[in-house]
Amino acid sequence: MIVIKSKNELQQTIQKWKKQNKSIGFVPTMGYLHEGHLTLIKNARKENDIVVLSIFVNPLQFGVNEDFGTYPRDLMRDLDLAKNVGVDVVFAPTTEEMYPNKPSVTVQVHSRIHVLCGKSREGHFDGVATILTKLFHLVQPNRAYFGMKDAQQVAVVEGLIDDFHFPIELVRVETVREEDGLAKSSRNVRLLPHEREEAKYLYASLLKAKQTIEKGERNPKVVTKHVRDFLTEHISGEIDYIELYSYPELEEVETVTGEVIIALAVKYSQARLIDNITIEVN
Ligand code: PAJ
Repeated sequence: MIVIKSKNELQQTIQKWKKQNKSIGFVPTMGYLHEGHLTLIKNARKENDIVVLSIFVNPLQFGVNEDFGTYPRDLMRDLDLAKNVGVDVVFAPTTEEMYPNKPSVTVQVHSRIHVLCGKSREGHFDGVATILTKLFHLVQPNRAYFGMKDAQQVAVVEGLIDDFHFPIELVRVETVREEDGLAKSSRNVRLLPHEREEAKYLYASLLKAKQTIEKGERNPKVVTKHVRDFLTEHISGEIDYIELYSYPELEEVETVTGEVIIALAVKYSQARLIDNITIEVN
């Protein structure tokens, strides 16, 4: 496994593989790797000749009051984990390497961002789209792997790839969970013991919603109310949102039909948790 910190060195290495017609699978991350990230990498490993992992905490996607400074980081541990799952190249640039100057061009996302996390995290998806555009140009992957844990990010990146004609196949990977159902996240380490204990109810509430739909409920407001009632009964965290939309368009629906997403966010003392499920309804 090679660890690369400079853009030039990465470009030279990629050129070499491109000349040999190697297929490249790319897993962009902000590090502090867990089983979710490792599952993305394992999928990339199966489907490509070369696997490139990026580890970069991207300042552009954090709001002023968000946790850029305190986002968990542990590069040495990440490198060990990456090596064990067969990564070929880790690209771990410094902030100065990716943003040597104030950016003269950034990417602005127009659709799929006015709901869910996009509503309260202004500019977040512009930051994601900007860094991914830069990384896609450097890595030139055939396939890029994204987790459905961040389903809105998947929807936005699908738009980015289509609109900017990146010759990249986006591979959606199902959310990896702890045994009790909590979606794995780098931010879970910030939950206090009682918060961690009750955090299992987030996924449980989404399963309730699924059951409600399976029993025949088609009114999105009734479905989300069930989720809210269940959560209010079981958790002390502050519910930020519980919403149901068409997926991946993220548009409001009058009736639950086709592919829909039920997504929620809950604020705890030191962490904000998100989770979702997508359901295909005929
Ligand atoms: P990060 O939060 O590190 O996540 C990197 C990738 O891992 C994302 O595609 C995310 O959806 C996926 N992931 C995280 N937890 C997961 C889980 N429990 N199961 C499955 N996949 C999971 O998302 C980002 O970084 C950044 O926004 C990035 C795309 C790297 C741009 O900076």
